[in-house]
Amino acid sequence: MLDSEDHSIDGQFLNDVIEGLSREQKTLAPKYFYDANGSALFDKICKLDEYYPTRTEVGLLSDRASEIAELVDGQHLIEFGSGSSVKIRILLNAAKGLASYVPVDISREHLLGAAESIAEDYPNLDVIPVCADFTRSFELPDVVEQGAKAGFFPGSTIGNFSRTEAHDFLAMAAGMLGNGGGLVIGVDLKKDPKMLKAAYNDQQGVTAAFNLNLLARINRELSGTFDLDSFVHDARYVEHKGRVEMHLVSLKKQAVSVNGQSFAFQKDESIHTENSHKYDIDEFHEIGRETGFEPDRTWTDENNLFSVHYLKVAA
Ligand code: AVJ
Repeated sequence: MLDSEDHSIDGQFLNDVIEGLSREQKTLAPKYFYDANGSALFDKICKLDEYYPTRTEVGLLSDRASEIAELVDGQHLIEFGSGSSVKIRILLNAAKGLASYVPVDISREHLLGAAESIAEDYPNLDVIPVCADFTRSFELPDVVEQGAKAGFFPGSTIGNFSRTEAHDFLAMAAGMLGNGGGLVIGVDLKKDPKMLKAAYNDQQGVTAAFNLNLLARINRELSGTFDLDSFVHDARYVEHKGRVEMHLVSLKKQAVSVNGQSFAFQKDESIHTENSHKYDIDEFHEIGRETGFEPDRTWTDENNLFSVHYLKVAA
């Protein structure tokens, strides 16, 4: 062995890439952005002047921490995804009587790392990590299953879901949280398209690097031959769909291969890499009602850029 790197191919990633690049509209799933490089780039995005969501949501959670703590205290707090430890810590600092904290994440390594650091910093808190894909229904440990439950889903991650997927997720969450339960969820709002365009096309090109990293990752992990100089980042707000779409556009007619399989690109043909759906508050409340919740509290910043909701499971 020359080194200790893992050169084996992730079969699920390969299948998804081959399937996505074989479509009429070539597509790659945004969950694949987050390798080590991509996660570091995303952290940089969150600090950009143009990228208002993170700082606005963190501000809302901090301002309302004691109010939110009162709503969830005494319950098992289930976090869907264990990405943003900054945000969960705001709640954990305020809610001192949680039955437990239950981070749910598909990446075992990431999950256990995050759980361990929370357990160290909150010695009186029961931390019960669950390794699962939270976009499908999954089993909770018995103690959690039998107790009162609250959910936490920050970051407008729900924006990555289509409206149908968002429906399915919320219905699943309502069923899982059960009677007396509730969900604290961050949702990015519709606004001036100029501001949305700027947030996803930052001056420094960090978002472009984040998008292009997906091709670099395919080159690294799946023996891809993408020439990173002949694809460019493009983010557009598609008004009638209420979403920002990110694409990677081929600057020329070319062929690219992945694990030995060739894909043809026309000049200006794109790979669709992400959707980031935006909601109006009323529109989101309506979806909550349709999926077994009763909207109970809504917090927004003074400029109405971002919203945090407490949706109560409907009796
Ligand atoms: C993590 C899905 C909420 O859609 O704003 C940021 C991801 N993509 N810049 C978003 C993202 C480009 C982000 N979400």
